[in-house]
Amino acid sequence: MNKKVLAIYYSQTGQLRHIIDSFTAPIIAAGCIVENVQVKLVNDYPFPWAARDFYGVMPDCVFEVPAQLEPIKLQQQHYDLVILGYQPWFLWPSIPVNSILNNPEFKSILKDTPVITIGEARNMWLNAYDRIRQKLKASGAKLVGNIALVDRHVNIISFVTIFHWMLGGKKDRYLNLFPKPGVSDEDIAHASVYGATVAARLADNNWDNLQSELLSQKAVVVKYPLMLLETTAIPTYVKWAGFINNRSNPGPWLQAFKYYIYVALFLGAPVLLTLDALFIKPFSSKKIKTKTENYLQVN
Ligand SMILES: Cc1cc2nc3c(=O)[nH]c(=O)nc-3n(C[C@H](O)[C@H](O)[C@H](O)COP(=O)(O)O)c2cc1C
Repeated sequence: MNKKVLAIYYSQTGQLRHIIDSFTAPIIAAGCIVENVQVKLVNDYPFPWAARDFYGVMPDCVFEVPAQLEPIKLQQQHYDLVILGYQPWFLWPSIPVNSILNNPEFKSILKDTPVITIGEARNMWLNAYDRIRQKLKASGAKLVGNIALVDRHVNIISFVTIFHWMLGGKKDRYLNLFPKPGVSDEDIAHASVYGATVAARLADNNWDNLQSELLSQKAVVVKYPLMLLETTAIPTYVKWAGFINNRSNPGPWLQAFKYYIYVALFLGAPVLLTLDALFIKPFSSKKIKTKTENYLQVN
């Protein structure tokens, strides 16, 4: 099968690279030529992060300010399939992914090209996916599939462990007590199952209902409580980002935003989920179904 596939992504810790490698293995085994492009930033973010730098990128994530990428040199002018790896940063597409989506070389190959997005996140990726979907559509791409891999531990646990990972630099067990952060090794390995599904479709370029097939394989799961928390947080992040950008000395306000996140997670979230369970959720099943469906589908 002489199909040409571009897999393009950014990865700081290597997690998304491992996912892409696992996902593309069956596609390569089927005889396709997979061009694997891990983009680099001219001024990359340091890893592990210093807390100040970590929170400091929030306004640029929310306002989708692209960063300068090192030149992307693609071997083809046309691909049978593009695989775009993404990760959310502060609920928006990460700055590197947003920069890929703004890159002229990348945009030039998108028109009428089937695209599969494969996301990795702590557990809040819905808005990032939505923004990426809109940008792909604006570039004339045909989004045919989306896959989302997450940390499956409960929200508070994954919140603690991701900070251990991002600020400490090691994807290991915090205090030897907490579980490992991020997407599990099993889920990374399991991405090859979705890759095999895609490889079978590549043979005759048949993308009809691919997303339904991926959904039946649980390639995307939308959990209502996380959807509620994320969609409630989105407008507050926009307000914070605008407010911080307008300060001549943003440092103390970024600190304040950090504490806001703690309060929102440990206090706001349980209150919101309880009130919602009592007064809203029981009367909104149709609305919730439509909203969930929006994030499960590619259109
Ligand atoms: C600055 C920053 C913000 C992040 N914000 C989110 C977020 O809003 N939602 C989420 O689920 N994960 C978030 N994450 C986790 C990433 O999406 C991703 O899973 C992790 O950084 C590993 O990605 P890598 O392959 O680029 O190393 C964030 C990570 C960073 C560095």
